[in-house]
Amino acid sequence: MKKIRSGIYGLNRLMDGGINQNTITAVIGSSGAGKTTFATYFLKRGLEQGEDAIFITLDEEPKQIINEVVEMGWENIEDYIDEGAMVFVDAGGKQFTDFIKTELVGFVEEWKGYNARIVIDPLTPVLWSVHHRYEQRDLVSLLLRETRKIGTVVCTLEEHSVMGDLSGQDLIIPMYLADNVIHLRYKSHESPEHRDMKIIKCRSSRHSHYWHPYRIVKGSGIIVQDDALSAQTPPHVVDLNSRLEKALAKMPASKKKKLTPKVSHSIYWTISLLSMEDIGTLDPDYIIRQILLEYELMDG
Ligand SMILES: Nc1ncnc2c1ncn2[C@@H]1O[C@H](COP(=O)(O)OP(=O)(O)OP(=O)(O)O)[C@@H](O)[C@H]1O
Ligand SMILES: [Mg+2]
Repeated sequence: MKKIRSGIYGLNRLMDGGINQNTITAVIGSSGAGKTTFATYFLKRGLEQGEDAIFITLDEEPKQIINEVVEMGWENIEDYIDEGAMVFVDAGGKQFTDFIKTELVGFVEEWKGYNARIVIDPLTPVLWSVHHRYEQRDLVSLLLRETRKIGTVVCTLEEHSVMGDLSGQDLIIPMYLADNVIHLRYKSHESPEHRDMKIIKCRSSRHSHYWHPYRIVKGSGIIVQDDALSAQTPPHVVDLNSRLEKALAKMPASKKKKLTPKVSHSIYWTISLLSMEDIGTLDPDYIIRQILLEYELMDG
C-alpha cells in the first residue's frame, strides 16, 4: 500500500512511514484534544504537494473554521480555497441521512478520479442522527465507503467517556469500520495540561503500541514528542533558523528536488512561529528533524 505523509510531525514514524492511501483514519479525543487541528494539518500537507482537500463539517461553519485555522498559523489557507484546491462541504443543520444518501453520492461522482484528502469533522453527529444501531452502521458505512473512493479520509470522533477506555457506544461502530484509529488523550485537569496519543490500530502496517506525548503548537499543528526526552536547552542558545540551515546543508543531494520554494517557505514560516514556550522540553533539533522528515528531505 502507498503511504502518504500525515502532516503531523513525528507521527509517520509511529505508523510505519505514514497513513496508507485510500484508508479511513478515525481520530478520537475529548473536547480540546486537537482533533480539528489534526484534521486541518492533514489537509494542509496534501495541498502542499498538489492534492485536493475536502473538509466536510458538521458542527462549525466553514467561515469559523477558516478563522481558527488562520489564527493557528496556517496563513495561506484562503489561497487554496480561491484556487479551488480546497472545498468545504457544510453539512451542518442538514438531515444527515438525506445528505449522505443523495448529495454525497452525487458529490463523490463529481470528484471521481481525484486524489484528495477528505476530512469529516466531527463524525459523531452522524451517529446521533438515526436511532437504531443497524441504521447507524449502515449510514456511517455508506459515508466512509463513498468518501474513500475519492481519496484518503480522516474522520474525528468525540470522546465522552471520562475513563478514556474507548468503549463508548458512539465509538464502537466507526472504530470498527476505520482502518486506522488514533486516540488523542487530553488530561485537561492536570497542571500543566497533559496530552498523549496512541495508535489503537493501523491495518496492514506495523505501528507503535505506546502512548506518545504531543503538543499543539501554533504554525506547526501537532508535534508528537521524541521518545527519549532530551535535556532542557536554555532558551537563549536556541536559534532555530541557524539550526535549520545547518540541517538543510547536510541534506542528501538526492533530496534536494523536494525542497521546492513552496516547501522551503512553509518550513521557514513554521519555524518562525515557534516560541520558546512551544518548544518547552522538546529538543529543538528533534523538531527540525521531524519537519525535514515530514517533507522527505532527510532519510529517516
Ligand atoms: N491559535 C492557537 N495557538 C495555540 N494553540 C491553539 C490555538 N488555537 C487552538 N489551540 C489549541 O488547540 C487545542 C485543540 O483545539 P482543537 O480545536 O483542535 O480541538 P478539538 O479536539 O477539535 O476540540 P472540539 O472537540 O472542541 O472540536 C485548543 O484547545 C487550544 O489549546
Ligand atoms: Mg474540533
